[in-house]
Amino acid sequence: AHQWRGVLAEYREHLPFSDEDTLLTLGEGGTPLVHSPTLSRTVGADVHVKVEGMNPTGSFKDRGMVSAMSRAVSDGAKSVVCASTGNTSASAAAYATRAGITCAVLLPQGKIAAGKLAQAVVHGAKLIQVEGNFDDCLEIARKLDAAHPVELVNSVNPFRLQGQKTGAFEVCDALGRAPDIHVLPVGNAGNISAYWMGYTEYRDKGITGSAPAMWGFQAEGAAPFKAGRPVTDPETVATAIRIGAPASWSLAVAARDDSGGLIDAVSDDQILDAQALLAGEVGIFVEPASAAGVAGLLQQAEKGLVPRGATIAITVTGNGLKDIDTALTRQDLTPTVIPVDVEAAADAMGL
Ligand code: F0G
Repeated sequence: AHQWRGVLAEYREHLPFSDEDTLLTLGEGGTPLVHSPTLSRTVGADVHVKVEGMNPTGSFKDRGMVSAMSRAVSDGAKSVVCASTGNTSASAAAYATRAGITCAVLLPQGKIAAGKLAQAVVHGAKLIQVEGNFDDCLEIARKLDAAHPVELVNSVNPFRLQGQKTGAFEVCDALGRAPDIHVLPVGNAGNISAYWMGYTEYRDKGITGSAPAMWGFQAEGAAPFKAGRPVTDPETVATAIRIGAPASWSLAVAARDDSGGLIDAVSDDQILDAQALLAGEVGIFVEPASAAGVAGLLQQAEKGLVPRGATIAITVTGNGLKDIDTALTRQDLTPTVIPVDVEAAADAMGL
């Protein structure tokens, strides 16, 4: 039986590696594109959800990390570093383990979901908590890369976007065409840039006849693209996208403008509502940041701006299990307690 070989092997002809390079894998990519009748009905279009929480470390970061880490070990790197709001560090820690090299992660102190922190710890990364935000962490990481023998594996490393563009390939391969619109959350802006790269490559090679409009959504309190400039004190419940100075600024603006798309913002309440809708009515548990795209799509629909019958792909970027604390704040956790008795169970179930 065929087993998915990971994004580097599956999309080898579209990626800049040579036969001498070491190609790693933990089985990343090949994630499901799930058609959602509920979302389709709600927005009056055909909505397909790309479930990136199914990756080895539970987020889309694995696509780019396997690529950046393969480049790093092929070039003889012994040590990598990244700044992260949690998912990049989880992924870097896992792939550094696979590569047999050391990994240090710079995290904004107190602003990382517990599950992500656990991942970096169990994979043996050196955890460094910085008294600042993600933007501060990234600045330090860049300076370390410039001054010391350590490889930077944030998305400013071009091999990150190379790997992440495979998400767009998979959407096209699954649909048999490019979608009309691709929706996703935006933080440091690597993913929207990578998806656009993937879509335009498939279009330019004649594999698809078109590329979608890219619709990106940020959290209102961390929405530099809407502001048109970096913001200094980003704040949002969606800690993964609590970023004020996105590194891939010009690439994301090009993706937005060249695709005829948009980058807008949604409130924390809209994000948590969308997270609850995905979990409670669609059947997919995502972390808060991952729901920003869905919140944005619903906002566009309320404004009457979703073209009727359009084919829409929407990336949900990370697994809900990474941050159960935020998800549970809105739930009633009072347990129904019964004695060891089947009739009591039947009563409790309303049977
Ligand atoms: N969704 C999740 C779950 C993320 O972790 C991130 C980014 C994004 C969306 C935004 O993607 O940065 O490519 O625009 N997380 C990074 C990290 C910053 O450190 O894990 P982006």
